[in-house]
Amino acid sequence: MQYRYKQDDRDLFDQFFRDGYLILPDFVTSDDCDCLMMRMDELVDAFVRTDQVTSVFSTLTHDHMKDKYFLESADNIYYFFEKDAFGEGGLLYPIQDSLNKVSHALHDKDLVFNDFCYQPRIKVLMQDLGYSDPVIRQSMYIFKQARIGGEVAMHQDSTFLHTNGKPVIGVWVALEDATLDNGCLWVIPGGHTEPLRQKFVRHRDDTLSFATLDITPYNQDGAIPLEVKKGTAVVLHGLLPHSSKQNTSGQSRHAFTMHLTDRQDGFPVGNWMRGYDDNA
Ligand code: FE2
Repeated sequence: MQYRYKQDDRDLFDQFFRDGYLILPDFVTSDDCDCLMMRMDELVDAFVRTDQVTSVFSTLTHDHMKDKYFLESADNIYYFFEKDAFGEGGLLYPIQDSLNKVSHALHDKDLVFNDFCYQPRIKVLMQDLGYSDPVIRQSMYIFKQARIGGEVAMHQDSTFLHTNGKPVIGVWVALEDATLDNGCLWVIPGGHTEPLRQKFVRHRDDTLSFATLDITPYNQDGAIPLEVKKGTAVVLHGLLPHSSKQNTSGQSRHAFTMHLTDRQDGFPVGNWMRGYDDNA
């Protein structure tokens, strides 16, 4: 297995901190992409056979339950639906075609995803970027379903995962080709040098809210699409504004993403996945 990426480490480092992102073609083999997709098929099939479906459905109408399900997902493999998957009579499509994402602890709770996430080359990549002791804080399988895969508004990942030092880094892997039509990522190159706009906070009573830190608008005109092939990894600085548009095509755009921090930068209370458990 190739642990070092082809480019000089210094090039990677400079490029990442200049642009706020890296594109690494062929970071993951086509076979490994297929393997993750097949494993997700199995997990979803198992989910379909449980009665969790109704409890998930109820989360759409009960905010308290919605928060509870979301908070519990920090340490579990939980299933979230696309909002456009529902009509007045319930689900419009089979469950397999209705999910938005499965998250947030695939890396810890599933052997196949665990193997993928803890392969040494990901740790080495993080170390090349100056993260000497990387920790995976969350993982998500994103479906971006054909036709109903919803838009993700421009945001910074540091809004959702805070540290006391270097920002969170996202490693996003295209499991299928990502195109303009099926909702590829968009980024604002260099936008990571601007301030953090919002902070998502978990309060002592386990409620969640956004605190506004800076009202500078995103330079949406500066956004560029990242059309990438299956197996490409896109590495995102936590402050880099990024988004994706609705999938208007008949082709899904599956992706798997991990968010990592450096252990030495801490993971303070108030993070949504940590809360105020001082022993966490
Ligand atoms: Fe993001």
